[in-house]
Amino acid sequence: HEEFTKVKNIATIELGKYEIETWYFSPFPPEYNDCVKLFFCEFCLSFMKRKEQLQRHMRKCDLKHPPGDEIYRSSTLSMFEVDGKKNKVYAQNLCYLAKLFLDHKTLYYDVDLFLFYILCECDDRGCHMVGYFSKEKHSEEAYNLACILTLPPYQRKGYGKFLIAFSYELSKKEGKVGTPERPLSDLGLVSYRGYWTRILLDILKKHKGNISIKELSDMTAIKAEDILSTLQSLELIQYRKGQHVICADPKVLDRHLKAAGRGGLDVDVSKMIWTPYK
Ligand code: COA
Ligand code: NA
Repeated sequence: HEEFTKVKNIATIELGKYEIETWYFSPFPPEYNDCVKLFFCEFCLSFMKRKEQLQRHMRKCDLKHPPGDEIYRSSTLSMFEVDGKKNKVYAQNLCYLAKLFLDHKTLYYDVDLFLFYILCECDDRGCHMVGYFSKEKHSEEAYNLACILTLPPYQRKGYGKFLIAFSYELSKKEGKVGTPERPLSDLGLVSYRGYWTRILLDILKKHKGNISIKELSDMTAIKAEDILSTLQSLELIQYRKGQHVICADPKVLDRHLKAAGRGGLDVDVSKMIWTPYK
């Protein structure tokens, strides 16, 4: 497992108005081995060794947003869907960039097989990437998300939970349940746990009478196993007469909801323009 012991090569990157310290090794092509800093075009994600190269590039590059289709816009937030097969170079550049902040994901998959959902904050200068997630076009295992990243300058503002919520909205439109690819990082797991807790407990609070895990799964597109493990970890599941029973004392639910942190940014489903990949 040589790949996992490689030391971090690139220490910082420049991307848009930010200089960002990297977290992990990323396998940039060998001609970048002597670099400690890389300069990224924030729109097409090309990377360069020198600031002057980037400046020259920025005068020529006419992208002002990610390639692909804009499938969501609400106020200043936009989401673009990029097909890894149609925009291969962009997708590969994104993977190089993302690996700098992802520990145990390998980059050695084929970008052709994935769709990339790029979340942007837009202003009069263009649409600036804040984060993204990738998704297999066809997943045997019902994965609805492969990798998720919020770029460090934008973390802890609710974008992670927005991306997670968006991945489930896509699953709902497909009429499928989904689950993130494993393993999840520590930060990935707390983000998912927070999202699952909030969504499920909000439903339990409003719902009158009994509700099954299957019904919760149908309503949320969250896989039954993830619902069960979330409710079990909150000690809301009892096993009676061979059946799982959800205990939903309103006071207990409120206490858990408080502990689950802020809600994050909501996905306004009416602002999505999307049909499932065929
Ligand atoms: N320390 C403690 N808790 C943290 C945290 C940190 N540095 N960052 C996120 N969390 C937890 C909090 O519970 C937070 O909710 P809160 O702010 O309401 O308390 C919750 O995760 C999600 O926060 P949010 O702002 O919606 O997420 P984010 O935009 O920061 O993105 C990740 C979350 C996981 C996408 C981001 O941390 C990331 O890109 N990490 C690197 C890549 C990675 O590990 N991806 C997942 C594996 S594939
Ligand atoms: Na990871």
